[in-house]
Amino acid sequence: MSLVISIANQKGGVGKTTTAINLASSLADMGKKILLIDLDYQANATTCMGINRGSFEKSVFDCFTREAQFSDVLLKTKSEQIDVLPAKTLVEGIEEKIILDSNRDFILHSMLQGEKEKYDYVLIDCPPSLGYITTNALMASDGVIIPVQCEFLAMDGLTQLLNTVRLIQTKKKVNRETLTIYGVLMTMLDVRVTSGYQVVNEIKTYFNEKVFQTIIPRNITCSNATFYGVPVTVFSPKSKSSIGYKKLAKEVIARNE
Ligand SMILES: Nc1ncnc2c1ncn2[C@@H]1O[C@H](COP(=O)(O)OP(=O)(O)OP(=O)(O)O)[C@@H](O)[C@H]1O
Ligand SMILES: [Mg+2]
Repeated sequence: MSLVISIANQKGGVGKTTTAINLASSLADMGKKILLIDLDYQANATTCMGINRGSFEKSVFDCFTREAQFSDVLLKTKSEQIDVLPAKTLVEGIEEKIILDSNRDFILHSMLQGEKEKYDYVLIDCPPSLGYITTNALMASDGVIIPVQCEFLAMDGLTQLLNTVRLIQTKKKVNRETLTIYGVLMTMLDVRVTSGYQVVNEIKTYFNEKVFQTIIPRNITCSNATFYGVPVTVFSPKSKSSIGYKKLAKEVIARNE
């Protein structure tokens, strides 16, 4: 069975893309077939998977505006196990075009019908906003992973995100579909400072069992990997962040299979 998971938080720089590419890579290492969808016009996930932005014409956003189809934009990666729907600079006026689409909340959902079944996991890297693109991601998903950076103001904006998730849960119920919060993932914990652990306690108190046991440590190797266009789990498999993401992959599988 295939599972669609959005990695979402409208707050910028919390580790969404890093989580999407490294979870994809770790699940692939465990033999899973993965589709990674980059829904951020910054195209960081696309670049981090070693895909040059100049090497392809159409992006996933052209599917949103009905100017391309799934098969037109699907790309292979260096890993046989991982395919990508890449992002490129945002198509001009995309939000306006989506608003006028009578199926506006379900464009991605429809796009994945007959395609997602070819994969064990479809992972969606969401943009740092709660607009139509993120709504489409959540509508198409079975579950959501919320990365939260272990820093001051970590909880900022989470209420708004949870309200959006609840709204989409209600809408999906009509179609007898669900959207589960698979978990809150604490990222970039600086193990040398106590304030990071205070945030960990605060998040655990608020979300209880929804928090993944795995905490991703802050680790310079993780950001260095980005320069080489590979996930850190490939760049430096023994680094602390790689070990973290491999543990997370096991937890994700355990929660779902
Ligand atoms: N565990 C980590 N250790 C060190 N640096 C990290 C770690 N995780 C992410 N980073 C770095 O932090 C920055 C933000 O991470 P990332 O791009 O994954 O966040 P994001 O939520 O996708 O951001 P945006 O909202 O802009 O899309 C990047 O430069 C990334 O390399
Ligand atoms: Mg990102």
